[in-house]
Amino acid sequence: MDLSVEIAGVQLENPLMPAAGPITGNPNVIARVAEQGVGCIVTKTVSTEAAEVPRPSVARLSSGILNCEKWAEEPPSKWIEDYYPEIVDRVDKPIIVSLGYEPDQLEELIPKVHEFADAFELSSHYLGRNPDPIREIAATATRLTDKPVLIKLSPHVPDLKEFAQAAVDGGASGIVAINSLGPGLQIDLETMDSTLGSDDGYGWLSGPPIKHIALRAVNEIYNAVDVPVIGVGGISTARDLLEFVAAGATGTQMLSAALSDGSSKYGEVLENLPKELEKLGKNSVEELTGAYKQ
Ligand SMILES: Cc1cc2nc3c(=O)[nH]c(=O)nc-3n(C[C@H](O)[C@H](O)[C@H](O)COP(=O)(O)O)c2cc1C
Repeated sequence: MDLSVEIAGVQLENPLMPAAGPITGNPNVIARVAEQGVGCIVTKTVSTEAAEVPRPSVARLSSGILNCEKWAEEPPSKWIEDYYPEIVDRVDKPIIVSLGYEPDQLEELIPKVHEFADAFELSSHYLGRNPDPIREIAATATRLTDKPVLIKLSPHVPDLKEFAQAAVDGGASGIVAINSLGPGLQIDLETMDSTLGSDDGYGWLSGPPIKHIALRAVNEIYNAVDVPVIGVGGISTARDLLEFVAAGATGTQMLSAALSDGSSKYGEVLENLPKELEKLGKNSVEELTGAYKQ
């Protein structure tokens, strides 16, 4: 069974990668995920300042997760001097470095992290509801690097197709969709408090509850632009992953399922992937890419 895929010139042994989050937040957790056989690593989003994250930052729901985590809590110097070199040393797979957010922040960060990255993923989570900043971050990044630049879209924008097109117009070589959905709220009725520590108590939804929105988003973007799409949101089984591939995803990411059940979840999905493809009469992942037709 051929599980290999190519994303904007980066070769992966298989289409599964972790999504940016706590499970890719330091070299030790990353090494554990890499041991599970994922196709590449995506590191936690790093910005020019350390994030101040209110606690609790993660709340478990009956299905899925609500979080008010931001980007990395370490200053970028910690990542540049310690974490990235150690990750490159310990992980023999392509590394997608996630960065945020504004053009001037990317100007500062990309030259410093360039040597550690095989590709970049830029989060647009805090860039608002207008596509112009998306075009700008893609254009800034592609001016600073000749490595692939993937733009990660959040589902709370008015028109994902327009935002994906803006990223491509700016020079992006791929789109990652989607980031967590929301904001949402969970109330503890005994304390009448939110289960999250953010000021308003609100947070972002991920895991199985967002899977079908993510699938639609991936399919919509796949039909709108001519660059690879990486699907993320609610994957917890090999069949979920294959649904994303059928919707048009070249690569896939998973986070919440592994936060709930441990990093062995990556190994479990990968073990089942060839069997599930075989059941569908396919000899490779690529044969299924975009198989869903509206
Ligand atoms: C606790 C937590 C932290 C996250 N941190 C980041 C981040 O730093 N950067 C980012 O682009 N997305 C971040 N995300 C979003 C995930 O990368 C992913 O897009 C989302 O959780 C949907 O995938 P899933 O349903 O497999 O978890 C975070 C999600 C969670 C739950």
